[in-house]
Amino acid sequence: IGKYYIHKSIIDSTNNFAKEIASNAPDGTIIIAEEQTSGRGRLGRSWLSQKGCGIWMSVILKPDLQPQQAINLTQVAAISVVKAIEEIVNVECKIKWPNDIILNNKKVCGILTEMSSEIDKINYVVIGIGVNVNCDNFPEELKGKATSLYLETHSKIDRKKLTGSILNNLELYYNAYLQKGFDYIRPICIEKSITIGRQIKVITNEGEIQGYAVTIDNTGSLVVDTKEAKRISIMSGDVSVRGL
Ligand code: BTN
Repeated sequence: IGKYYIHKSIIDSTNNFAKEIASNAPDGTIIIAEEQTSGRGRLGRSWLSQKGCGIWMSVILKPDLQPQQAINLTQVAAISVVKAIEEIVNVECKIKWPNDIILNNKKVCGILTEMSSEIDKINYVVIGIGVNVNCDNFPEELKGKATSLYLETHSKIDRKKLTGSILNNLELYYNAYLQKGFDYIRPICIEKSITIGRQIKVITNEGEIQGYAVTIDNTGSLVVDTKEAKRISIMSGDVSVRGL
């Protein structure tokens, strides 16, 4: 991962660019930009990507996996970012299932995984990772929810070092996942989860579910005891955690 590397000073979105080149790009290609003019988040939201203060990057992967396993790649990316922040910044972040990285109850990193697939196989996935590293201001409407490593630790962080560490960890956990399966990374997802053990609300395609997050099962799904006293597992959805 990262052997093929494209660096842009300004781009609309590294995920857009990655999707354009993915079919012809080698497995593990990464695209990094200093600034994005239309950074994208999950569920059609926008992602603020100011110049030079964050890590805005996308990784192209071509694993031999089923489409429903793509969620696990998002989880692999999330634990890799958490481990890298521990190594380089020395603070412990948590993961709001499946893929928001939270520090002091605010979001420091988001992950947007997009995929091209057939019925039973992935053609490629693009994992977009946005880390607010040295950003020192957020618009009013984001202030309660978003933060940066700099705002939380009061020290400027070397973006190159952090990027290097994210890619090293990604390589490590991605290969471990491919060889040993989700069971190998599941304990880390559980240990770092800020969702498990809390009351949550999830918006899914089938509607809103309220309940208590019990664990992450061996497929990576979130197990929830609903307020109607039914145990269900959720493969994807937008989770809000009470108190966050
Ligand atoms: C989210 O939390 O909603 C996901 C945010 C993902 C942002 C990253 S920044 C690099 C890549 N390019 C994009 O346009 N989005 C992702």
